[in-house]
This record gives sequence, structure tokens and C-alpha cells, in this order.
Amino acid sequence: MTTDTLHYTIPGMDESAARTTIDLLQSRLHAANDLQLTLKHVHWNVVGPHFIAVHEMIDPQVDAVRAMADALAERIATLGGAPRGTPGALVAEREWDDYSIGRATTQEHLAALDVTYRGVIESYRTAIKELEELDLVTQDILIGQTEQLELFHWFVRAHLEDQGGQLKTSGEATEAGAARAVRG
Ligand SMILES: [Fe+2]
Repeated sequence: MTTDTLHYTIPGMDESAARTTIDLLQSRLHAANDLQLTLKHVHWNVVGPHFIAVHEMIDPQVDAVRAMADALAERIATLGGAPRGTPGALVAEREWDDYSIGRATTQEHLAALDVTYRGVIESYRTAIKELEELDLVTQDILIGQTEQLELFHWFVRAHLEDQGGQLKTSGEATEAGAARAVRG
């Protein structure tokens, strides 16, 4: 929760809407910071025959998600808030567990990333709904970011699909479970 005094906010927004919007943005900022670090971790830890393809696929996603974090933090500041971008604040305030896979095959990491992206995208879509009555400009920023995240999620899922279009990770709710489901 934002407890800092808002000395100003965006013209036309009342303080309570601004505070709730800042809280929603802060949660997205933690998600984006967590995701860009997790993606780099995957970039470094994938092994196996498809190493270079997956290793290189990940870096543009890291860059895009870092840019998302920057836009979210700057929107918080624009609203009169103070974005929290430190690792300590992220770990203390996030509502999910740390990515659980270390060195593993490309398929195992992609399966785990399917679960990671699912969580991030679901929470973005919840925030988009909550912003409907609060701030359409912030909602627009989140809609744009969700489109990119959903595209990256498809890049990941395309590696996990069989010829019939079935996902090997379907029904798996955890990273470890999804990684197990693709182990040959
Ligand atoms: Fe690298």
C-alpha cells in the first residue's frame, strides 16, 4: 500500500483513485522486474540441443520487459508516487514464489516459463479490469504491455505444442510440474 503523501497527482484524478492506481502499478512493476531477472536466469541456465535458439530468443524479451518496468515506474512518479524498484522491496512485497528451476534443458525451462507467463498475464488482465473505473490512461499502458507479454507467451508455448495443437504443459500449475511433464 502507498502510504507516502501525494503532494500532487494528475489533473482530473482524485487522490484515492491515484493511490489505488499507484498500488496496481507497483504490483505490475514488481512483476516486470521479477520477470526480466527470471528471463535472464533462463538465458544463462538453459542447456541441450536447442541451446542457442532459446538462449537468443530470450534476450529481446528481457529488453522489452525491462522497458515495461521503466514505463510502469515512470507512470507511478507521474501520478505523484514513489516507485519501489529495489530487490528487497520486490522480495518483501511480491505475492508469488521465486522461479524454481536451475540448470535444465530448453524444454524444461520453456515449460516452466509457460507457467510463469500464465501467472503474469492473468494478473495483468485483472489489473486492466480494475483500472476501468480508475484511470484509462494507465489501463492503456497495461493493455499495450499485455499484448507484448501474450506474444512472448506464444513464442514459449509454440515450443511445447504437438502437431495437434495440444500443450504438453496443460493442467500443470507449477513450474516444477510443467518441467516434469516435458521430460522425455
Ligand atoms: Fe547473454
